Amino acid sequence: MKRILTYYFTLFFLFILCSANQPNGESQTNMVNAKYGSNDQEIERKVEELLAKMTLEEKVGQMTQLTLDAISKGEFHDANKPMEIDEEKLKKAILQYHVGSILNTGAYTLSREKWYEIIGRIQEMATKDTRLKIPVIYGIDAIHGANYTVGATLFPQEIALAATWDPKFAEKGGEITAYEVRASAIPWNFSPVLDLARQPLWSRVFETFGEDPYLATQMGLAMVKGYQGENVNHPEKVAACLKHYVGYSYSFSGKDRTPIYMPEWMLREYFLAPFKAAIENGAQTVMINSAEINGVPVHANKYLLTDLLKEELKFDGFSVTDWEDIVMLHTVHKVAPTMKDAVKIGVNAGIDMSMVPYDFAFSEHLVELVKEGQVSMSRIDDAVRRILRVKFRLGLFEKPYYPMTDYPKFGSAEFAQANYEAALESVTLLKNEGNVLPLDKSKKYLLTGVGANSLNYLNGAWTHTWQGVDPQYNTKGKKTILDAVKDKVGAKNVKYVEGTTYDKDVNTSEAVKAARSVDAVIVVLGEIPSTEKVGDIEDLTMPEAQLNLVKEIAKTGKPIVLVLLESRPRIIRTIEPLAKGIINGYQPGDEGGRAIVEVLFGDYNPSGKLPITYPRYPNSLVLHDHKFSEKRDKHFGLNAYNPQWDFGFGLSYTTFAYSDLKLSSNTLKGDEKLSVSVKVTNTGKIAGKEVVQLYTRDEYASVTPNVKRLRRFQKIALNPGESKTVTFTIDKNDLAFVDMNNQWITEPGAFKVMISDLTADFEYIE
Ligand code: BGC
Repeated sequence: MKRILTYYFTLFFLFILCSANQPNGESQTNMVNAKYGSNDQEIERKVEELLAKMTLEEKVGQMTQLTLDAISKGEFHDANKPMEIDEEKLKKAILQYHVGSILNTGAYTLSREKWYEIIGRIQEMATKDTRLKIPVIYGIDAIHGANYTVGATLFPQEIALAATWDPKFAEKGGEITAYEVRASAIPWNFSPVLDLARQPLWSRVFETFGEDPYLATQMGLAMVKGYQGENVNHPEKVAACLKHYVGYSYSFSGKDRTPIYMPEWMLREYFLAPFKAAIENGAQTVMINSAEINGVPVHANKYLLTDLLKEELKFDGFSVTDWEDIVMLHTVHKVAPTMKDAVKIGVNAGIDMSMVPYDFAFSEHLVELVKEGQVSMSRIDDAVRRILRVKFRLGLFEKPYYPMTDYPKFGSAEFAQANYEAALESVTLLKNEGNVLPLDKSKKYLLTGVGANSLNYLNGAWTHTWQGVDPQYNTKGKKTILDAVKDKVGAKNVKYVEGTTYDKDVNTSEAVKAARSVDAVIVVLGEIPSTEKVGDIEDLTMPEAQLNLVKEIAKTGKPIVLVLLESRPRIIRTIEPLAKGIINGYQPGDEGGRAIVEVLFGDYNPSGKLPITYPRYPNSLVLHDHKFSEKRDKHFGLNAYNPQWDFGFGLSYTTFAYSDLKLSSNTLKGDEKLSVSVKVTNTGKIAGKEVVQLYTRDEYASVTPNVKRLRRFQKIALNPGESKTVTFTIDKNDLAFVDMNNQWITEPGAFKVMISDLTADFEYIE
């Protein structure tokens, strides 16, 4: 049912119309290189052999991707229809139009048996009844686990994985997701999102690894490694799809798929960086940004799609458009007067596969365009070569899918445990006044707020359905925060009053009454799951009804602990002083309820850190790595950067002290390396984990320098009284920026290293 709106929009329309060198970070180069580049001669030979046999129509078919609804019975906007393949529609797609790819679920999550039935039938027709027997590549949005397969392990969303500041959780999540996606007969995952959350209003902040290019790169590389492993031709691995190339997250208005204005140096230094690293590490596919940058829709931008992606970055997999985006060149972006022009513009710009997704207009126009000489056969061959290459690399020709029984660990307790550990590690303690936390297990509590008893708020969008709001599909047996608190302190010690919906009062007055008879109140505020256009908002402030719930309960004088379940940082400035404890849970997935409650009651010491800057005011959205001029306030002081909580911030139930920041030298020459070491001591009474974050600052530069940039981080565990010395190595590449000529450069001069509140200076000499 995804895109009922798009569907009607389309109908409505039809009716009306009848070189740069980027430095490598240390751990990037340490990643296992999962590349099967063109040096895999055997695959290249097979690709060429097959390509030589293909007709134009067969080639164009490979470039065509339909949604499952286009080959299934019934109307595709019917959310409740049972999912059955329509044999006639399938024949038309596979036999007549030679369609090479299918995506998506229908309206809702399907059982593994259903996935095998559907994909088994598609592959049977493609590999038995067609002339060249080319398997279909099926793609799915398994963005926090195999979220369209019943019983799968649903992980924290990417933003929460980033809050662990430990890439091994992203890798593990990727590994288990790959296993469970393949266990659903699907070899291609539209994940990870590598967009940077530098526009907090955006509806898809939760789908990202946060705002920082270095953190997002490390997390993204780990996730791609989890998906693809060392060899994507493995029954437990899937091809990754990097989204959404490039700059998609930085819309000026904050609304999804609206214009981005971005100088090229910024695009390269920030937004391209995670993509470049993942491509260098063998990511097989990319999906294109649906929006426009500097007035040019990215789907029409030859510079970005061909010159930069394929030539400069040497990407040898294939690119797929986002949903209906060729059509949108005509209907929305208005750069193509007709649908046929849109196809011509998109394909000539360099797109390889079109997520059509409902009909055959793309294929028909493209065949005509080639015949008329408006699109060259070499462009078509380039696209098809890339698609076939990925199909061969995935081993689809030998086996388009493996038996269901090959995946005994699907939905297992082992996977749930890994998921739970990731969720635990992501929980971020933002406030703990008077050590209100951990809570006492022998006291009585009121649970209230829209997220208190909801698996949907814990999971967010892309959970069993596109928007993730329908509770009927929730994973059976998983615990909400309310369930987990009852398990912890006994049901008789827990009261529950809903309080509000996302934006309306339900029974705030009852919550206030109930608060009077307990020792403390846990208020779970949250953001209704949503993504893409559906998640557009007009105001970053948390809805008034939810703020009011906290304000009213505060009048009882009972201690309040806030838990936040949000898809982006909603402003809570007015209620922050009313809460003694505040925990950010992000959208921690199916085990998130248990994880949050472990932290609330002190059975787990929190170690999550914010992967975003949490703003205090809706119109003051300055990020942690801002420019010096952004610090200047109206009194000519330097206090304008005043977020609610800073990027990298997160408390623990223990305390850590930093000392002995040492550099191996106070000069860094040419290609030499600089060691930076620091001692960290657990000065509290319990064991805990700390994220050691190394930032640098370029004191003066030809492009205004940032106040700081994250260059390295490491999460360490320390027992009470224990100290560890952490050593990082950096070199000139870590100090580089993209200059006004769009070239990476490290300018000689003074630099500062910053770890916690310690600093040290050095000079870079060419
Ligand atoms: C989203 C993508 C997604 C695709 C396929 C699009 O609308 O922007 O992130 O992968 O749909 O469902």
